[in-house]
Amino acid sequence: MKSSAIAHSNIALIKYWGRSSELNIPMNDSISMTKQGLGDIELKAHTTIFFSKDYVKDVAFLNKKSLVDRNKERVLAVVNPLREMAGINHKFMMASTNDFPTQSGLASSAAGFAALAIATSDALGLKLSKDDVSKYARLGSGSAARSVHGGFVHWHQGVDHETSYAEQLCGPTDFQMNAVIALVSDEPKTTTSDSGHTLAATSPLNNAQIKKSQEHVVELKKAILDDDFKTVGSIAEENCKLMHAVMETSKPPLYYRNQDTFKIMKKVEKARSRGLECYYTIDAGPNVHVLTRPENVEEVEKMLKGKTIRVKPAGDSGTTEEHLF
Ligand code: DP6
Repeated sequence: MKSSAIAHSNIALIKYWGRSSELNIPMNDSISMTKQGLGDIELKAHTTIFFSKDYVKDVAFLNKKSLVDRNKERVLAVVNPLREMAGINHKFMMASTNDFPTQSGLASSAAGFAALAIATSDALGLKLSKDDVSKYARLGSGSAARSVHGGFVHWHQGVDHETSYAEQLCGPTDFQMNAVIALVSDEPKTTTSDSGHTLAATSPLNNAQIKKSQEHVVELKKAILDDDFKTVGSIAEENCKLMHAVMETSKPPLYYRNQDTFKIMKKVEKARSRGLECYYTIDAGPNVHVLTRPENVEEVEKMLKGKTIRVKPAGDSGTTEEHLF
């Protein structure tokens, strides 16, 4: 009853911000690209879980540090319902490692909880489809539902646990898009997205953003399938600005973008007006993902200067024979 899995992080093109329940049921559908770093940093999580009748309590480690409180609760939120479904009472030991700065807005939790859900269902012998596994990844972190799949992914909002799941829209090579991440900061953020989701409802712009995001999902999905990069980039950029408007007008306001973030946004807009096709999107942190066609990656890097990570659409997440313990 031991299994390991590897999953990659994802960048939301249509954002999830705000939820309607403890089960991380979002307020709208969202779409993302599961991403894999092209250099030393792969932006992946590797997780091993072992259920044994010899263990007397559940223990979980992230990058060798023992998880406690809310962090451990989130692991249990994924494992407990799967353990119950399998009808197994054994305690577990879990270890997870990742190769990117934690809590810097690069979605390390998405990769971690996706790997956890895949490894747990496999260790317990549950034969679940990827779409079904995504429901359990969601219980750890909403955006993790999308990281269960590779390529481009659509998370259906749904109304309850059974109907809120992620499905693959197309594979990693079906739509030619890469991103260059401009690393503004690797400092841990001060407000977690966990508490930010609750604040979304206090913004007067929230309902407009939810409505627009539902429209964006339909348009973006079509643009991906039509290989229309320009439309994908413009919609992703607009959707990002709407989400940050909600964050910045919630009570209290949340400012994830800083001065360096704005400088990069302007650089991207200027480069675009010169003819370099690129668009930005920003999650809950100051770093900027600059979306571009693969052939323009080098030029985008040159334009951005500073510390960057190149990413391409990742392949499917899945189990591995390589165990961490
Ligand atoms: C801004 O998935 O990190 O990245 O469900 O509390 O773990 P929890 O939140 P999380 O929120 C992601 C917010 C976002 C947008 C997105 O990825 O869709």
